[in-house]
Amino acid sequence: MILVTGGAGYIGSHANKELTLAGYETVVLDNMSYGHEDFLKWGVYENVDLGDLDSLRKVFQKYKIEAVMHFAAFTYVGESVEDPQKYYLNNLKNTLNLLQVMNEFKIKKIIFSSTCATYGNPQEIPITETHPQDPISPYGKAKLMVEQVLSDYSIAYGLRYVSLRYFNAAGADPDGDVGERHNPETHLIPLILDAAAGKREDIKIFGTDYTTHDGTCIRDYIHVTDLADAHIKALKYLENGGKSEVFNLGNGNGFSVKQVIEEARKVTGKEIKSTETDRRPGDPPVLVGSSKKAREILKWQPKYDNLTEIISTAWEWHKKDNADMM
Ligand code: UFG
Repeated sequence: MILVTGGAGYIGSHANKELTLAGYETVVLDNMSYGHEDFLKWGVYENVDLGDLDSLRKVFQKYKIEAVMHFAAFTYVGESVEDPQKYYLNNLKNTLNLLQVMNEFKIKKIIFSSTCATYGNPQEIPITETHPQDPISPYGKAKLMVEQVLSDYSIAYGLRYVSLRYFNAAGADPDGDVGERHNPETHLIPLILDAAAGKREDIKIFGTDYTTHDGTCIRDYIHVTDLADAHIKALKYLENGGKSEVFNLGNGNGFSVKQVIEEARKVTGKEIKSTETDRRPGDPPVLVGSSKKAREILKWQPKYDNLTEIISTAWEWHKKDNADMM
């Protein structure tokens, strides 16, 4: 069985679905701090907090776990600056707990959810895996620390890992089984769709004076189902004896905030009011990744690689998830 920590969250639930479709049995572990009960549609579920070593051990005793996909983490970059302890305890210390129990039970394979935030301010675009890692937030630092711990453990204990550095996860399951639901929501696309649905008055554009073609920030949006698929490919890679590796996961195409809003207007057919405001502290102007390595080694090929499909699947999910309000 595959242990999916954070399997009731956004990316974890999509990966749990893809694992099931690929024929794997899964155990979802989630403490429901940010997870959703209605995302528990596949596999068995254990309500366990990674801070609770004894309960964690019981899960490893109860199921025959062959590998772990570790999604469970807090993900608000801004909050991590205001309350770093929250991030180091959950994203770092609780990951150490997980690795400790894996070690006790001699589980040697893990896929780790890392992030482009481990690079900090990019020195060159597109960002490759060899780009210096100099994160600027405790969120990014804790993720980098876990990458470093994995490297040390792999040398000392024979653990094999794949760290996947996601760029901007977006979109929703094309079947509408699961999707993006954060509380509070801070991500661009769901907030734009909130504006399209009349749940909020407008979308604020954070900064229009960046050194980009239209002055707004450029990001590399990658469909969550493509991310999920990369996890399956990474798992198979480890199953086939692959050595520990890190991979970027992005589309390699950048879209500005204004382009995303414009595309959302086309997809939804709604006006979507936008308001230009100040920059949000800590936002680099451009984050676009090269995923050449994942394409070559994992044979990963994103299927939903255009903005229209990313926003369309997000919009279909958004309408379903907010049906009572629309
Ligand atoms: N933005 C707006 N208005 C909003 C929300 C966002 O203009 O209301 C802009 C941001 O300034 C940014 C872009 O839209 O330029 C994307 O912002 P998101 O908050 O959607 O995503 P981020 O790029 O900030 O964050 C993502 C992931 C993080 C990860 C980070 C790495 O969500 O988990 O990339 O920098 F850490």
